[in-house]
Amino acid sequence: MSEADLGVLKVQKELFKSSRKEAPFYILGIGAMFAGTQLSLLTSIIFGRFVDEVIVPKDASRFWLYPILFLLATLLLSFMNYCNRYFNDKGGYRTIYRLRDQMFKKIQSQSLNYLSTETPGQVLAKTTSDLDVIRSYLSRNFRVGLNALYYYISIGLTIYFIEKQFLLVYFTLLPILFIISAYYGRTVRPIIKLRREEFGKMSSDIQEKVEGIEVIKAFGAEDIETETFRQKAQNYLDLYLKTVIIRNLSIPLAVFIVSAASVLVVIQGGILIINGTVAGLTVGELILLNLFMLQLRTPTRLFGNFIVGINSVTISGRRVFSLLHSEEDIKDEPDAKPLIIQEGTITFDDVSFSFDGRIKILDNLNFTIEVGKTVAILGSSRSGKSTLIQHIPRFYDPTEGRILIDGQDIKQVTVDTLRKSIGIVTQETFLFSRSVRDNIAFGKPDATDEEIKEAARLARADEFIERLPQGYDTIIGERGITLSGGQQQRLAIARCLLVRPKILIFDDSTSSIDAKTEYELHKEISGLLEGRTILIVTQKLSSVRFAEKIIVLDEGEIIEEGTHEQLMENRGIYKEIVQTQTTFQLEKEAIAKE
Ligand SMILES: Nc1ncnc2c1ncn2[C@@H]1O[C@H](COP(=O)(O)OP(=O)(O)OP(=O)(O)O)[C@@H](O)[C@H]1O
Ligand SMILES: [Mg+2]
Repeated sequence: MSEADLGVLKVQKELFKSSRKEAPFYILGIGAMFAGTQLSLLTSIIFGRFVDEVIVPKDASRFWLYPILFLLATLLLSFMNYCNRYFNDKGGYRTIYRLRDQMFKKIQSQSLNYLSTETPGQVLAKTTSDLDVIRSYLSRNFRVGLNALYYYISIGLTIYFIEKQFLLVYFTLLPILFIISAYYGRTVRPIIKLRREEFGKMSSDIQEKVEGIEVIKAFGAEDIETETFRQKAQNYLDLYLKTVIIRNLSIPLAVFIVSAASVLVVIQGGILIINGTVAGLTVGELILLNLFMLQLRTPTRLFGNFIVGINSVTISGRRVFSLLHSEEDIKDEPDAKPLIIQEGTITFDDVSFSFDGRIKILDNLNFTIEVGKTVAILGSSRSGKSTLIQHIPRFYDPTEGRILIDGQDIKQVTVDTLRKSIGIVTQETFLFSRSVRDNIAFGKPDATDEEIKEAARLARADEFIERLPQGYDTIIGERGITLSGGQQQRLAIARCLLVRPKILIFDDSTSSIDAKTEYELHKEISGLLEGRTILIVTQKLSSVRFAEKIIVLDEGEIIEEGTHEQLMENRGIYKEIVQTQTTFQLEKEAIAKE
């Protein structure tokens, strides 16, 4: 379901569906609210009676009855107001709790392709501010709208029973009040939408600046960056103030009109009583009518809030529900079977891939990675290496062609078993702000200490971990700031090795590790993980030394493949790369010697 398909009513329907489980809370809350409104109208009636039965006839016998009734009604009213808030808030928070859970699951199950079209700031704004709007609609705006309706009907009915003539004033007043409410809602609506967009921009800006703080500082760009942020914050503030101004103009206007109408009622009623035209209209009833007219302020304000609420919730709900209902682009086929790996042969069969349907990032790839072999994919930056390997755990599906593991088309197996059989050390190392131990044991939370230490040893991470302040219990700082790039990569490798997957993929995972450690690491891995398929993606020649097969990728095409020796004989691009990198290496060593 796309955002455009979700109109005002559809969003309401979705909201209704999502909050069905909390129906008892909402029913209790709304029941209490109606009772409260009725009690508040009742206090006016009690007051009118007091005038008619005690004051006008000067009859002291029931003097205390009405004040006591009045007090009791007010007391009960406070209690009802409390129940109203309590139950509606409870319902709102519970519904949101479930929605947030569903959103989180959904975001996690989306392919990388979906997420890469949005900045983390936008996703963040989506989960926090949109859900907050929905919560406040469910526990406030929605019931407020119902309450306004209740007020209008209740007041109308009372007027009808007291004296039909006053319905004229009432019905003249209603459309005017509606127009004010609607104007308020309509004008505020587009601004609110803009306001939310500005907020999204502002928060993704903050996130970017926090993540890029080192670059910003290194280039001395703090002032410029502060200025661009100030600009965004200013835009947000301007829009915010605009909504406040409109709000503060339309509500006093409604109050004025209502007060004027209540004066009209007093004048009309006064004339009627003095002339005795309408038999039976008492002073108390006139006071009551006057109070009711004044009370019309409340539903007008409520109705305005309801319109604003329904506008904001339509915008937020659209985003939330279109995400929740979006097709998962990577999902199990109806007859998907678990992946069974006997050996671990990976075959790319005419695989092509494009992000946008125009530019081919992978172009007609055909190759087989045999069991227990270490294969290296070598290629310059942006040649499509990461995109290629991300197809194996199905982070993306090929636009054309298919990928087989031991003869099974990976589209026909369950995503869960596929991903569990593959260990992938991604190019961007991601460590959680948890202990070193928990980071390594991420894929196998029940791993023993021995297993964790063994994985760390294989990844050449044991030595530096033991030197950390609390060893394996050291909590890694935000985004791994306290560890060097090479240390982070080694932790990520340990995490992957612990699971002992059948297929192991390293995407440029040793780029920040020094040559000697890298050499040891590769030797260790190839030696220990016999019978497993290992894929190494790299730009560096040093990393392909252990590979039994090298695939050279250029602009998404395989331009050469074979062993180091074969490729050297080919005198193709591989040999060229070897020569330039060797020359470069020699130069570097020469400079170092000087
Ligand atoms: N999510 C995406 N949407 C659109 N284009 C993308 C996306 N991810 C990558 N690309 C493009 O695909 C091409 C290949 O990128 P890829 O990351 O696979 O290259 P790479 O060989 O891994 O590069 P590097 O060595 O720098 O990691 C690049 O031109 C890149 O701009
Ligand atoms: Mg890459």
